[in-house]
Amino acid sequence: MNIAFFDAKPYDVSSFEPYLNDDIKIHFFETKLDIETVSLTAGCEVVCVFVNDTVDKAVIDKLYANGVKLIALRCAGYNNVDLGHCFGKIHVVHVPAYSPYAVAEHTMAMLLTSIRRIHKAYNRTREFNFSLNGLTGFDLHGKTVGVIGTGRIGRVFIDICKGFGMKVLAYDKFPKDDGINYVEFDELLAKSDIISLHCPLTPDTEYMIDENAIAKMKKGVVIINTSRGALIKAEALLEGIKSRKIGAACLDVYEEESDIFFEDYSGHIVDDDTLARLITMPNVLVTSHQAFLTNEALGNIAQTTIQNIEEFFEKGTSANELCYRCGRVDTCKNHRINKCF
Ligand code: NAI
Repeated sequence: MNIAFFDAKPYDVSSFEPYLNDDIKIHFFETKLDIETVSLTAGCEVVCVFVNDTVDKAVIDKLYANGVKLIALRCAGYNNVDLGHCFGKIHVVHVPAYSPYAVAEHTMAMLLTSIRRIHKAYNRTREFNFSLNGLTGFDLHGKTVGVIGTGRIGRVFIDICKGFGMKVLAYDKFPKDDGINYVEFDELLAKSDIISLHCPLTPDTEYMIDENAIAKMKKGVVIINTSRGALIKAEALLEGIKSRKIGAACLDVYEEESDIFFEDYSGHIVDDDTLARLITMPNVLVTSHQAFLTNEALGNIAQTTIQNIEEFFEKGTSANELCYRCGRVDTCKNHRINKCF
């Protein structure tokens, strides 16, 4: 089996190399998948892609023409794949969970770094500047955190916040009856000192944090996004920071990240003025879609991706196959039994 592996980084190669054998040949390409690079898939039955590869209608048609049978996403989110257009042509599998702890712990790491000014202190002491001026933070204990999306990652983050003695409010479009304190979206916005996003990017959730939502928040609110960039309208966030309404922002994802994140642009001029301005703000912390990046998560991603591929070629489907009809993987068991194809 030949697998065309796009956007391959050294840590991807290390985690997938143990699975290479006479039956599984992986062709690692550093480039991302898009209409310019899709020709590299000739002779491959599988393409393995990540969050910023482009799998739109034009790319899917070329993949199909090249004889690709399976798109194996090595991530949970699948907003970059036109699932409807895959129907009847190419099957799609993903890795629904690889380590909710990795992402939830990074979320708390960003929050603590931001509000206790650890990033500032680190730079200062390296210069032998031991002044504490300007480093005053605030206690998390007793503060209210609003968690949007109470799936795998949201729940782990809720548990972590409870460990800090925080009050937790939650909003989910599909709330579960499980002891979580659910409130309406607007109530969460109005009452939270910290708001953390853990829902997928869908037409429903795109720009859920825009100027209207920000207007409803407390002054000084801390916003954390480790989910998908376009949940937040970046210009509205920037305006909220400039007007001092938003106290701090922690961003592991960014609306227009696909051409920038995961790459080294030091020494280059970045064209995205909004991102450049956000990064200059003393109260904005940006990491480059790093929340998933733990040894445990990388190991699980490689193992599940290979299992998905092997299962698909043995059985014609996989437990982690995505069904485009309902758009909700967790609830599409019936469609899978009846087969989307
Ligand atoms: P999940 O599928 O377990 O949970 C998502 C939750 O969002 C569900 O409870 C669902 O009901 C809820 N939801 C769906 N639509 C909603 C809406 N309109 N409003 C409010 N809630 C809604 O997903 P999981 O594993 O917790 O991941 C969450 C997100 O984290 C993923 O969609 C992905 O975008 C992001 N992610 C980011 C990573 C990173 O490295 N920064 C790594 C892995 C995931």
